[in-house]
Amino acid sequence: MCNIDGKKDVHIPVLKNEAIKYLNIKKGGYYLDGTIGCAGHTISMLEKVKGDIFVLGVDRDKEVLDIARKNIEQKGYLSKVMLFHSRFSKVFDIIDSLKWPKLDGVLLDLGVSSYQVDTPNRGFSFHLPGPLDMRMDTDDEKSCFDIVNFAPYEELRDIIKEYGQDPMAGRIAKKIVERRRQGSIKTTQELASIVLEAYPLKWRRTAKRHPATRTFQALRIAVNRELDELKEFLSRVLDILKPGARIVIISFHSLEDRIVKHFFKMEQKDCICPPSQMVCTCNHVQRLKILTKKPVVPSDDEIELNKRARSAKLRAAEVL
Ligand SMILES: C[S@@+](CC[C@H](N)C(=O)[O-])C[C@H]1O[C@@H](n2cnc3c(N)ncnc32)[C@H](O)[C@@H]1O
Repeated sequence: MCNIDGKKDVHIPVLKNEAIKYLNIKKGGYYLDGTIGCAGHTISMLEKVKGDIFVLGVDRDKEVLDIARKNIEQKGYLSKVMLFHSRFSKVFDIIDSLKWPKLDGVLLDLGVSSYQVDTPNRGFSFHLPGPLDMRMDTDDEKSCFDIVNFAPYEELRDIIKEYGQDPMAGRIAKKIVERRRQGSIKTTQELASIVLEAYPLKWRRTAKRHPATRTFQALRIAVNRELDELKEFLSRVLDILKPGARIVIISFHSLEDRIVKHFFKMEQKDCICPPSQMVCTCNHVQRLKILTKKPVVPSDDEIELNKRARSAKLRAAEVL
């Protein structure tokens, strides 16, 4: 849930019960919520053990962090949560400075919150008029405006193709480049109509979703370097976890899910040398046990209640 200044926005935590189950919350434990958002998951974690845990909650969005603080305060748990404005890839220094023991669990609930999407001036949604922004952290230098107006054709095409998996990526990038010669593309609605125009009529008629959906998702991933963030975090996360700790990650994009799946698989193996190599030289040792052979997905009932849950996939693993 998100709620600020009487404005009732709704962010329903996705796969909440499943996340709590796989986190296996232990009384007196130390946890990281790397994407605290509106604190829906964090509050559920606290409620599970009547507040008897400590949570480090980080978010790269200052506005959202304020909402988290208010929501946690309302529930009476503020003394149990340390809130930091940070990217989760940079959380390691914070943990060092807190002198906390190794953690009992981490949660990442990736992507954006409903609050961000539904706030027009953040520019995440093509349904709402707003500036081309999409920065989760408004202190970041590069916004969607910069990419759309200044990236070369090839870069635009590759972003839309790779992160949006849009078969029309080339046509969309070409249209953007043509249009910006007449002046800057400034708003979400201008960009949405350019994408629509790039789609052949037949595709427009048969498309299940608005043609701009994928382009907007792709640009958001590029603006916030979301995949790099995840890779950087995973490359260090095992250093902050104690044996028996749980890692739970909810992703909303196949590329993110693939990164998590690959990381879990690698860390479940001893040797990770190429199969063609006869003698092991990697000295790698297994550090994780996968708890979810297949990703956990929301039930039909959850999707019915919360359409935004439909692409969610949860993976969990335990540290050995
Ligand atoms: C889906 S929402 C989380 C919702 C939250 N679990 C809840 O129940 O309210 C994702 C949040 O993660 C934040 N976020 C995304 N990438 C981040 C990163 N690399 N570092 C820190 N926060 C990030 C976004 O700003 C957003 O607030």
